[in-house]
Amino acid sequence: MDTIKQLQWRYATKKFDTNKKLSKEKLNIIKQAFNLTATSFGLQTISLVIVENKDLRATLVPHSYNQKQVLDASHLLVICIQGNIENTDVNNYYKNIKTIRNTPDSILEPYRKDLEHKMHNMSIKQRQQWSTNQAYIALGNLMTICAIENIDSCPMEGFVSKKYDSILKLKDNGLKSVLLLPVGYRAKDDMFSTFKKVRKSIKETIIEI
Ligand SMILES: Cc1cc2nc3c(=O)[nH]c(=O)nc-3n(C[C@H](O)[C@H](O)[C@H](O)COP(=O)(O)O)c2cc1C
Repeated sequence: MDTIKQLQWRYATKKFDTNKKLSKEKLNIIKQAFNLTATSFGLQTISLVIVENKDLRATLVPHSYNQKQVLDASHLLVICIQGNIENTDVNNYYKNIKTIRNTPDSILEPYRKDLEHKMHNMSIKQRQQWSTNQAYIALGNLMTICAIENIDSCPMEGFVSKKYDSILKLKDNGLKSVLLLPVGYRAKDDMFSTFKKVRKSIKETIIEI
C-alpha cells in the first residue's frame, strides 16, 4: 500500500453514496483505532458515539448547518469529551495499569498523585479544553485509518454541539460532543472528489534545521 497515495485519495467528502454501508469488519477497525488513539498521560477522557439510526440523524441535519453528510454517510461518528474529569477517572486509570501490567503500587502511586494534582489544579473549562485537544488527535487518527482502509470521511466542526448533546442524550453519559466524522463511501457524482488538493508547498510548511 502506498501511504501518500491513500492520503491523496482521501478528501473531505461532501456527498456520500446513501446505498453503501460499512461492513462490521470496517466498523470494528474504526472502533479499535479510536480506542488505540494516544492521549495525554493515557487517561482517555474521550468517547466515540456511533450513530446509525437515520431518523435520528435526519433531526441532526438542521443543527449541522444543513450539511447532508451527517445523514447520507453510512455511519455518523461523534467524538465526545467527558464533561469533567474526576479523581475516580485517575484512580481507575491507575487500577487498570496495575491489572494489565501488574505494576506495584509503590511505583504507580507517585504518578497517580501527580496526575490527580494536575487535574485538581485545572478549572472544569480547562479540563474540557484538555480533553478537546485529545479529541482532535482521535479525529486525525480516524481520518488516516479511514484513508488506509478506503473508507471515505468528512471531518466536521460545523455543528451545534449543544443541540447534538440534547438530541443524542449525551449528558446522561456525562459527555459533550466536540467533533463529527461521517464515514462511508463517496457518491459517484461528488464533484469534490475530482478537485485537486490545495496545499502550501512543502517548502512553506516544513523547516529543516
Ligand atoms: C477540524 C476540521 C473541521 C472541519 N469542518 C468541516 C465542516 O464542518 N464541513 C466540511 O464540509 N468540511 C470541514 N472540514 C474539511 C476541511 O475543509 C478540509 O479538510 C480541508 O479543506 C482540506 O481538504 P481535504 O480534506 O479535502 O484534503 C473540516 C476539517 C477539519 C480538519
